Amino acid sequence: MTVQGVKFSGVGAAIPRQCLTNAHLSALVDTSDEWIQSRTGIQERYVAAPDQRLVDLASEAAGAALQMAGLEPTAVDLIILATSTPDDLFGTACLVQTRIGAVNAVAFDLTAACSGFLFALVTAAQYLRTGAYRSALVIGGDILSRWVDWGDRRTCILFGDGAGAMVLQASDADQLLSFELRSDGRLNEHLTLAFAGTPQTLGDNLAIAQGGFAPIAMNGREVYRFAVTQVPEVIEKALHRAGCTVEEIDWLVLHQANQRILDAVAQRLGIPQEKVISNVGQYGNTSAASIPLALTAPIQQGHIQPGDLIATAGFGAGLTWGAALFRWQ
Ligand code: ACO
Repeated sequence: MTVQGVKFSGVGAAIPRQCLTNAHLSALVDTSDEWIQSRTGIQERYVAAPDQRLVDLASEAAGAALQMAGLEPTAVDLIILATSTPDDLFGTACLVQTRIGAVNAVAFDLTAACSGFLFALVTAAQYLRTGAYRSALVIGGDILSRWVDWGDRRTCILFGDGAGAMVLQASDADQLLSFELRSDGRLNEHLTLAFAGTPQTLGDNLAIAQGGFAPIAMNGREVYRFAVTQVPEVIEKALHRAGCTVEEIDWLVLHQANQRILDAVAQRLGIPQEKVISNVGQYGNTSAASIPLALTAPIQQGHIQPGDLIATAGFGAGLTWGAALFRWQ
């Protein structure tokens, strides 16, 4: 039962310093700027240096979002960090909490790959709607460059690093109009970053697997097919739940996986290009960071205005996918 509404009051983003261009990649693997741009729309992406950690990017994005919202860190009740690439497998959200000085918040990580930000947003909204908390910081951040196989041209061209954050606050009017979340583990094999342990014996008759992960493995065609069929469907479902029509959408903000996926989803829904937000050319696929990263510049520049209706959708490993319909501020 909803006892109070949710509003969205701040966004922020952070990207690493190092730019990795298609020309750089062409020197690493057998590919070309022409191939990458025509298949994905990506021109460049940013990658974290060895001394740059997720906590650094996530905290920078969180600080910017709090500043836009005019909220003191000590007033934050809840922090959810969506990530698949934590600095610490036990969790990174508490490190962000401490770094930004949100001493009164409870903080935890959430993992749903490229859908992570959307799943975290919906999760945080439920805590606010029940009245349990009054403010939440939702962060999506990933450093996938740690786990990419830099010799695999089918995947290494796609991903970039970054973080984005959004502030949610209790409000009389509920600006989260609807959402729809889905997952299907039967399709898990199409996109993985799987544990790959090394067997080790303990004494005479015990054995365990010592830690390690295999690099990202993806069946690009299957993921493409999945995204262009399932994403329009969940957006339509979210529209139906909210009693809205596709014509009412002011902005379509999809997980920035690939320009061809953005184009195909918009075309299937009949949403004109000028309403589709895209920064995939500049940042590549930044996984859990991509939706707040895509929102930040148009909001800062005043293209997205208070009251605008935003349809957003995430999709990725799991497989997981989902959509949410909300009004900005
Ligand atoms: N440069 C040059 N050639 C390449 C490259 C490359 N970087 N990568 C693959 N190729 C070659 C392949 O080896 C293949 O050659 P072959 O026919 O001689 O074997 C040929 O190009 C076609 O390969 P496909 O994998 O079929 O290429 P496709 O047209 O499907 O494009 C892509 C690949 C861009 C990954 C596409 O499948 C796609 O967009 N998939 C969606 C997946 C996605 O965006 N994932 C992002 C992460 S997941 C997420 O966020 C949901």
